Amino acid sequence: MLKKSYISGVASYLPSKVITNDDLAKFVDTSDEWIFQRTGIKQRHISEGESCADLAYKSAKMAIDNSGIDINDIDGIVVATATTDVRFPAVATYVAGRLGIDCYAYDISAACAGFIFGLNVADNAIKLGQSKNVVVVGVDLFSKLVDWKDRNTCVLFGDGSGAVVLSSCEEEDDYGIFSTHIYSSGKNADLLKSYEIGKIGLHMNGKAVYKFAVKSMGDSIIDALKYNNMDKKQVDWVVPHQANLRIIESVANYIDFDMDKVIVSLQNHANTSAATIPLAMDSAIRDNKFKSGDILALTAMGSGFSWGSCLLKWK
Ligand code: ACO
Repeated sequence: MLKKSYISGVASYLPSKVITNDDLAKFVDTSDEWIFQRTGIKQRHISEGESCADLAYKSAKMAIDNSGIDINDIDGIVVATATTDVRFPAVATYVAGRLGIDCYAYDISAACAGFIFGLNVADNAIKLGQSKNVVVVGVDLFSKLVDWKDRNTCVLFGDGSGAVVLSSCEEEDDYGIFSTHIYSSGKNADLLKSYEIGKIGLHMNGKAVYKFAVKSMGDSIIDALKYNNMDKKQVDWVVPHQANLRIIESVANYIDFDMDKVIVSLQNHANTSAATIPLAMDSAIRDNKFKSGDILALTAMGSGFSWGSCLLKWK
């Protein structure tokens, strides 16, 4: 009997310290008006002593609790992150250790698109029957990576984590993941990259990233719809990577989709890289937006460039 996967639990975690745009303007030459008009961001959460593994563990634990799955039935943990605490071992192994379970655990690196790449590997492991319940975490602490004196980049980012549990169901079940789609284009690798390990700061060609983000996220949703012989009218919610409200609005415009059906949470947490999609999903669940049977299109784009999408029916 063929298997597929569905999202059985979602959770997110933000560190308690909040830095508003006005707070930032006290130590960088910027303003709430500039940041809000160009990005839609109002504030970001910043870790004070909590590690990448701490944040990842917290959202993973809550996602497992919310799923109702017995913690001993988790057979894999995949953590998407670009901001690990140490080069090895993987953040995912610390999460497994803190959860007190033995299961395979590894990290993947696809920057802001990492959560979609994580869904892809977990969904495939479940389809192949290799795994029954896999935790996929997106976590990033850009506060330790950005140069807080560089107004071109520091205003855009924050810290946070989000997680889902993907569980196995039968192919004929009327819910679950239809497909995931992942892409990379290495010729753009230098347009958005951190400085060398040990140096603080990142290089970003903002306008090139902006343009590529709109087209790649839009096209990956169109690809997912075509692959499943579906029409955009069937989609109830688009959950995009939360980098910039103008990018999100341009994606909606590119695919001719109503912004009322696009989940936006970035005003509260800024760009948390791999964590933004589960953060946005969790905020939508708290707002009672997703109903059983709703079709969701998730999409993200980030450094690499790497991008992708996931089309699913909500249980
Ligand atoms: N506060 C005040 N002024 C600023 C700031 C700031 N924080 N940052 C830059 N400026 C200035 C620049 O110095 C420049 O001044 P100049 O014209 O005198 O040289 C000017 O503002 C640039 O303004 P715009 O050209 O209007 O900027 P733009 O509209 O391109 O917006 C932005 C910049 C917000 C970075 C935009 O290009 C963008 O969002 N790009 C996408 C980047 C992104 O999202 N990266 C995240 C990682 S990738 C991802 O997650 C998809």
